[in-house]
Amino acid sequence: MCGIVGYIGKEKNALNILINGLKALEYRGYDSAGIAYFNKNKIITIKEKGKIEELEKIIDYSIESNIGIAHTRWATCGDATKINAHPHSCGKITIVHNGIIENYDDLKEQVKKDNYKLISETDSEIIAVLLNKYYEEYNDIIKAIVKTKQIIKGSYAIAIICADIQDKIYAIRKDSPLIVAKNENASFIASDVPAILNYTNKYMILNENEIAILTNENIVFLNDSLQPIKKKILTFEGNTIDAQKGHFKHFMLKEIFEEKDIIKNLIKKYNTIEKLEKKLGFLTKYDNITIIGCGSAYHVGIIAKYLLEEYANIPVNVEIASEFRYKNNFLNKKSLAIFISQSGETADTLASLRKIKIKSVDTLGIINVQESSIAREADKVIYTEAGPEIAVATTKAFIAQLIIMILITIYLGYKNNIITRDLLIELLTNINNLDKYLNQILNNSYKEIAKKIYQAQNIFFLGRNIDYGIALEGSLKLKEISYIHSEAYPAGELKHGTISLIEENMPVISIITKDNIFDKTISNIKETKARGSFNIVISNKEVNDSDVNILIPNINSILQPILAIVILQIISYETANLKGCDIDKPRNLAKSVTVE
Ligand code: AGP
Repeated sequence: MCGIVGYIGKEKNALNILINGLKALEYRGYDSAGIAYFNKNKIITIKEKGKIEELEKIIDYSIESNIGIAHTRWATCGDATKINAHPHSCGKITIVHNGIIENYDDLKEQVKKDNYKLISETDSEIIAVLLNKYYEEYNDIIKAIVKTKQIIKGSYAIAIICADIQDKIYAIRKDSPLIVAKNENASFIASDVPAILNYTNKYMILNENEIAILTNENIVFLNDSLQPIKKKILTFEGNTIDAQKGHFKHFMLKEIFEEKDIIKNLIKKYNTIEKLEKKLGFLTKYDNITIIGCGSAYHVGIIAKYLLEEYANIPVNVEIASEFRYKNNFLNKKSLAIFISQSGETADTLASLRKIKIKSVDTLGIINVQESSIAREADKVIYTEAGPEIAVATTKAFIAQLIIMILITIYLGYKNNIITRDLLIELLTNINNLDKYLNQILNNSYKEIAKKIYQAQNIFFLGRNIDYGIALEGSLKLKEISYIHSEAYPAGELKHGTISLIEENMPVISIITKDNIFDKTISNIKETKARGSFNIVISNKEVNDSDVNILIPNINSILQPILAIVILQIISYETANLKGCDIDKPRNLAKSVTVE
């Protein structure tokens, strides 16, 4: 999500305040940054692709200014480039924007008719164009804002400065959040509280259809009828980290709840055959794939293997990176080696990449952290764009990796004439609508289930085919944050010895999303039940032989792993929470394992 900061004050240190504010919002994820400030009666705009550190290289902090706006951009409409970075200007107007202008395409055509040539690929620039058009027409910034609000559709949080008005910042929002704050020396706007905590912990919420007008002396709020209104002052009790968690107790839970928006933003870049061709067309030249990763990333590979082999008819080999780097392999010119990694810095995965590159095998990184080592060294990279993942236990990045692998499966299945065009369109549509199903899952409470398992010493996770991959990740998630020993097992394999471990009331969590093996897994569940297990089943159809049956919507089976995984993530979270574990920073774990 983008980050917005605005400052107007008596002190002329706007550049420092703006950049520090952006740094406090880095946890929201971004791929470019910029600031605009008044200096010598002109608006100066500086922006850069990449991290804030890159922007700072071209900022002269000796410049004095007492008013400015700033932005960290998480690319949605238009690639992560310098041109597309905010702020955006048109004539006298400069803005920063968080949100999506849904009628952008129509508005773009209209401004082209006005002979205005857009400079960027972003929807946000159109806001500056409209504001400037109506400011020139009415010679009144408030009227220009009101008119623009009537025209743009979608979500927005916008901070505005006007070259003719050097003592005010204006702000409006719809759906995207904005807070407004002031202390004895200055007024601020920001996307979120962390950006202002160095200056005040008192703030106000800018509501829909209000206009905020900030000066260094005060803040005026206007309602829809342009009447001044009073605002309740809120006080944030906590530190920056607390503020970054928002209303969530842990980053892990916050990141689980971010998953639906991440999927929504990802699918926008792949939701037509043309977009799939443009982004994934290079994949068609390989006749076999090897997926390499560690931990949860490896589990994405396991799930992807079943997907690609069933729906795209491509042979897939999945390797644990720490094993792969020291063993022989038989990849060749027709092979593609895919390296999955959230951090892009995992030592074993990076070493495996370097080993394969020596053999001149084509490599693809599916990575979350931009410009990380694996992202830079792989021949190609697909970013999962999940934003910074603060919790050590991966959730949103895992889901994003899985979405990318499902998109690759759908595309290759279509190119290999296994998935029809109609089914491809249906799948892309259903991925876009996953948020509806995720809302159902996220609105349910799994606390009662957690209460039934949090005192267990050992827990089994069972599944067949793709459900085995889901079981692997469910088991790891539980282990790493609740410290309960668990083991994922192919459901059909349990009876070959390990079933001797099943004891009275031992929890067994089974996943069944594959219709063609539904009854087979039921048989395996019965085998454990006959030995006294406590059976929790996550399935797309009713299972009578369960003590707890969690039903998931019976959407395309290729998409059901997403829903099952989220349920397992939450069950693990609630279980660890009951045990009072340090969920965001589990003992012994590191977010990125950069050693062997
Ligand atoms: C964290 O929840 C994972 N369990 C951990 O195994 C991680 O997936 C693994 O260390 C690989 O990290 P990466 O994705 O950054 O390469």
